[in-house]
Amino acid sequence: VPLLDKGDLIIDGGNSHYTDTDRRDAALAERGLHFFGMGISGGEEGARRGPSMMPGGDKKAYLHVKPLFDAISAKVNGDPCVTYIGPGASGHFVKMVHNGIEYALMELISETYGLLKNGLQLDNAAIYDVFKQWNAGRLHSFLLEITRDIFAFKSADSDGLLVDEIKDEARSKGTGKWTSQIAMDLQVPIPAIDAAVSMRDLSKYKALRVQLAALSPDPAGTKKLSDASVDYLTQLEQAFYFSMVTTYAQGMHMLYHASLNFKYGLELDQIAKIWRGGCIIRSAFLDDIYQAYHKNNALEHLFLDPTVQASLQENVSGIRSIVSAAIQDGIAVPAYAASIGYYDALRTGRMPSNLIQAQRDYFGAHTYERIGQEGVFHTDWTV
Ligand code: 6PG
Repeated sequence: VPLLDKGDLIIDGGNSHYTDTDRRDAALAERGLHFFGMGISGGEEGARRGPSMMPGGDKKAYLHVKPLFDAISAKVNGDPCVTYIGPGASGHFVKMVHNGIEYALMELISETYGLLKNGLQLDNAAIYDVFKQWNAGRLHSFLLEITRDIFAFKSADSDGLLVDEIKDEARSKGTGKWTSQIAMDLQVPIPAIDAAVSMRDLSKYKALRVQLAALSPDPAGTKKLSDASVDYLTQLEQAFYFSMVTTYAQGMHMLYHASLNFKYGLELDQIAKIWRGGCIIRSAFLDDIYQAYHKNNALEHLFLDPTVQASLQENVSGIRSIVSAAIQDGIAVPAYAASIGYYDALRTGRMPSNLIQAQRDYFGAHTYERIGQEGVFHTDWTV
């Protein structure tokens, strides 16, 4: 800061917490300096060949950097994967939600691996074929593409694959956790992302897991999935598609509410558009998300888009079968289960939550509201 002149611009291209960005933005504005909190996604390949970039900050200053950002970003059909996101910390906020979606998609792929390996008893070559086939169809995405390649990558130290020699304890740098924490602050449900964060944490309890694995046998008398047919793989593809849609929908719903709450003025179609290339969550489905919000940028929830709603209904039987079978067979699928649970709860016109209000009022006089009557009520439930 002491080396800068008024009107200079600082760009923070890291994964910063949005509250730090807000603080820096305000402090630098006082000194007449511009600040951009810019989320950048794409890993090492993105750094070399063009990432997806999410700059937030002063709109006037953006005009100075726009040509530079446009030039270095990834391109999809000639369109740069960068757009002005909004004021203040909006760029870092959007990148954080990108990472929350990334965590859930990775968890879903990892649960799929568990179903293929421990349920269907497929070997690595067959698992490679499944991911290859998925990536060649409507599920086409960067994360499935790298997963396919991981299932062909030989170990330098043995005849097997490197993936089998990696410890099953997943690490993280925290952006997924921030997404869950802030979603809870905003009271926006994102259960698939929450499940992904929890499962990374659970994976670290290796010694406890090994101890409990010896104590708790697999469910007795259930049908192992090893004899499952092509039907099972079709249902699994549907389950993944359904959960992928649900995951993006949860992230977009969080952005919708964050935009209202923080006055970011987010254009959700433009965000979907710049995620179509360069970033870790890029996928064919992002084009459908772009189309949905482009038709209606005030869309409250992706599930309300008629095309998306129809595709959920087409694929829901697959996820119901997969989650039921997985639970019967004792295979953990918390992100898949969270996806169907979220869908079912959201399409419940009258939830059983009236009972929670009754309980709260019973034990704590927290009051409740009544159907068709104004005001709040309290009852002495013990008389
Ligand atoms: C990206 C990634 C990147 C992130 C890594 C690691 O969009 O390029 O999201 O920003 O640092 O994915 O994240 P974890 O260590 O938390 O898994």
